[in-house]
Amino acid sequence: MKLALIGYGNVGRAFGRLIERKRASFPFRIVGIHTLRHGTAIDPGGLAPEPVFGPPAASVDEFLDRTGAEVMIEVTPLNPATGEPAISHIRAAFARSMHVITANKGPIAHAYHNLRDEAAQAGVQFCFESTVMDGAPVFNLVNFALPGVEINGFTGVLNSTSKIVVEAMREGCSMEEGIERARQMGIAETDPSFDIDGWDSAAKTAALANVLLDARTTPQQVETKGIGRLTTARVCELAAEGKTVRLVSRAKRTPSGVRLRVRAEMLDETDLLASAHGTSNLLLFHTDLMGTVGTVSLDPTVEQTAYGLFSDLVNVARTV
Ligand SMILES: NC(=O)c1ccc[n+]([C@@H]2O[C@H](COP(=O)([O-])OP(=O)(O)OC[C@H]3O[C@@H](n4cnc5c(N)ncnc54)[C@H](OP(=O)(O)O)[C@@H]3O)[C@@H](O)[C@H]2O)c1
Repeated sequence: MKLALIGYGNVGRAFGRLIERKRASFPFRIVGIHTLRHGTAIDPGGLAPEPVFGPPAASVDEFLDRTGAEVMIEVTPLNPATGEPAISHIRAAFARSMHVITANKGPIAHAYHNLRDEAAQAGVQFCFESTVMDGAPVFNLVNFALPGVEINGFTGVLNSTSKIVVEAMREGCSMEEGIERARQMGIAETDPSFDIDGWDSAAKTAALANVLLDARTTPQQVETKGIGRLTTARVCELAAEGKTVRLVSRAKRTPSGVRLRVRAEMLDETDLLASAHGTSNLLLFHTDLMGTVGTVSLDPTVEQTAYGLFSDLVNVARTV
């Protein structure tokens, strides 16, 4: 199966390495990569994980036409305000009858219902498991393991960078030093203020609500307060009282619609939500038939985000 990637940063490169590692069992081939500044690389015979880039294709449309790929993988940065240009990249792939897999939550947070319907019209698949909690099953858990269950709400600790920052501040570091630590780990958003101000969590909350609660919302409609005003002194004071801070996403179905909130919450260290450390994430679904059930991912790295893309790809390959 031939793959075209738009974006080749932390996630794209980890995905390239994974494809290489699994080549013997899964004959997937990356035939094209298009980036913003590095340029474009195309080879119908398959590109190496560290390809030589040439000049950029004139447009995404031209790039996709030249690759002749069957699947487009969208891994450009999050734009929490509009979801663009990723939404347009996805539509360009649908127009060429390509399946689409993305780790970019912007399109799911802004245009999920339209894109889902457009994919169905084009007769292709649209998969996004790695947009929330990397490769841990979230959407697949609900779709395949909880048939017939209605999701009435969810509670999640979904942003890794904010946890790394709070933990660095507990050690006496500044917020900037904490952000740099997350950047070194390859987990900060391209613009880390999206993590600190809660935009990443708001986009994940909107994406989950759109897919699982039919909310038809956007990140702007999520009531959001990030960790930007936290100081090292305050975090250390809380630590002395056995408390800590987590950026918590909450959703609840109500008679007047779905209520969505992201907030830096002060929690006892013994709280289940506080047990998610470092890059670990936790998501609890509140359901009608299964009570509260959840998914947890311990210390995931960008390799697990790559696995989320790969799991979608294996599922697509099974159905074609
Ligand atoms: N990192 C994680 O742990 C993680 C986890 C889950 C989901 N995600 C999501 O995965 C996506 C990628 O994250 P990342 O960490 O890989 O980002 P990144 O390291 O910043 O890489 C972004 C890539 O996209 C390219 N790009 C930017 N704008 C573009 C455009 N308009 N057209 C074509 N290419 C463009 C960049 O090109 P240049 O290389 O030329 O600059 C770069 O190759 C984001 O949406 C993020 O939210 C990331």
